Parts: sequence; C-alpha cells; structure tokens
Amino acid sequence: RAKQLLEAGEVVVIPTETVYGLAANIYSEMAIRKVFDLKKRPYTNPLIVHIKSIKNLTDIAQNIPTVAYQLAEKFWPGPLTQVLEKRDTVSDLITANGRSVAVRIPNHPVALELLNSIGFPLAAPSANPFNYLSPTSAEDVVKCFPTLASVILDGGRCQNGIESTVIGHKKDGIHLFRYGSITKEEIEETIGQNLIVDSKPNETLESPGMLSKHYSPKSKLILTKDILNTVSQISLERIGVLSFKQVYLHPKIKVTKVLSTSGDMHEAAHNFFESLHRLDELGLECIIAELLPNEGLGIAINDRLYRGASKF
Ligand code: TXA
Ligand code: MG
Repeated sequence: RAKQLLEAGEVVVIPTETVYGLAANIYSEMAIRKVFDLKKRPYTNPLIVHIKSIKNLTDIAQNIPTVAYQLAEKFWPGPLTQVLEKRDTVSDLITANGRSVAVRIPNHPVALELLNSIGFPLAAPSANPFNYLSPTSAEDVVKCFPTLASVILDGGRCQNGIESTVIGHKKDGIHLFRYGSITKEEIEETIGQNLIVDSKPNETLESPGMLSKHYSPKSKLILTKDILNTVSQISLERIGVLSFKQVYLHPKIKVTKVLSTSGDMHEAAHNFFESLHRLDELGLECIIAELLPNEGLGIAINDRLYRGASKF
C-alpha cells in the first residue's frame, strides 16, 4: 500500500535509523509540495534524497568526488548525508533552487525494503511540524499529524534517535553543515582530513540569535550545567528535568527523564527526542535540561538543545 500511495503522488511516513521521515517520490512535484505544506516548512529549506544503493548516486548527483564514494562505502547505509552537485533531473523544489542536493541511504530494513520495491528515490524531511521536536516513534508522528495515522510504516523506535550528520563537498574542503549521529571525528578518521565547521552552535549561549529556532518543545526549555542550582534559583514550581545520568531530588522537580544511567552517549541520543516528547506532553511550567559533555555525540545532542532553547 505504501508503494501504491507513493506511486500515486501521496506522502508516506517511513521509519529510518535516525528519526521518522515524511517521504515523497522525488519525481512528483505535487508530492514534494505536500511534504512542505504538511510540515509548514519554508520552501527555502532543502530536502534530503534517500536512495537505495550507491549505484543510484549518479541518478541524483554529478561530478562526485572520490572522497564522497569513500565515505559512502564506509557509512552507507547509515546516518551520513552528503551534499553534492545535483543533476538537472532533480527538482529545484527539493534543493530550494540550489545547485546541490543532499543524499543518503537510510539504514532501516523497512525503509530499504520500500526503496527496493519502488522505482524512484524518496525525499524525506523529519516527520515533525517545522521547528518542533523530531519524532522517533510512529506514536509521536501521529500525535503531531493525526491525519497521517493511516500512512505510517511503523518500524519501531528509531535506533540512533537523532538525525543524520550533514556534510558538503566544496572546493575548499568538506564542510560540516549539521552535527548528527556520526561524529566529526569518525568522518575525519575515515578521510584523513579535518572538516570545516561553518557555524559554531555550541559557543552561542552568548549569542542565541545566531541559532535557527529548531527542535523546540512547547514548554519553556532552559539549559544548565548545574540542575539543582538552576532549579533553586528559578521562580517556577512545576519543573521537569531532562538529565544525562542521574535523578536530582528537589520539591519543585515533578518529573525527571534520565537519558542514560550509565552515561552512554549512544543510549542518550536514542532516548533524547523521545524523552523530550514525554516531558512536553505534561504541560510543565518549564523543562530544565542538563547539557552533556561537549564531545562526540554529546556535541550533536547539545546542538539540538541550544537550538530548542533559543526561542526562550
Ligand atoms: O536523519 C535524517 O537526516 C532525517 C531522516 C528522515 O533521513 N531527515 C532529516 O531531514 O533530518 P530534515 O529535512 O529534517 O533535515 C535536512 C537537513 C536540513 O538541515 C537541511 O537544511 C539540510 O539537511 N540540507 C538538505 N539539503 C541540503 C542542501 N542541498 N545543501 C545544504 N543542506 C541541505
Ligand atoms: Mg528536521
């Protein structure tokens, strides 16, 4: 049924190893427009194209550098998105009128089986309304988009839990556009060169205006390195805490979500959006989140926390 819907220019929600995606046939402009409209996403924000095999990369991109193939062999299927020069056959809607296209192969058996049963790649942004928390379960997609309940392929909880890492191949080197499930170090080790980081989202507490306001819960989100100190100073009473490893006790803390009791970053990433969704359902006066150690996957998680908190 998902295959039929996609062939007919409808959208289908697909599971991936990172987060759920709102998928459409890249060759149907009508379907791509539905994706943007459902998400209320501005047309200036381009979409990732999901392909089924490295062989299909040349259908989408051209002048592909050798290092892109090296990274593809190492990380695909998996949570690395590569921005490459696009082919003319890729719609300007997908690339927001740019000449480059973002591509990856998702590492989820259901997504791969679907891609293998259809004759076209899928454009798929995360299946959340623009600027809201990304969904890592079918249930959280339905909560945001009740009308999509009948077009979700339920593939269980997403393994990685945060989005793919986005890199771009440019003349001056390889740029890191978005921190994600694969760390900067893993990529640098593979290619033997350093990535160029354009923005420094983790140094921007001083300048939150630099951040785009992504990943925001509805409840006020406050970040800290010292939960108990922040809780005692704040004049709000019904507080939820998102903590890295431990439960903190204070009368004003009504509920705590711990990301990983053993301090494992992969487990923390797996639980990150899921925990924020659960806290955000409770109508708390605020959510106070503990910043993670700023290394490895902690950088990607902190990046999402900074963006989520920037509008507050
Ligand atoms: O893990 C993921 O990447 C998930 C799953 C569903 O694959 N998808 C996802 O898509 O996170 P979305 O649309 O929420 O985020 C795509 C990111 C955005 O930051 C977008 O600006 C960037 O990729 N992007 C897409 N195309 C681009 C391009 N041509 N040049 C630069 N950045 C691009
Ligand atoms: Mg997104």
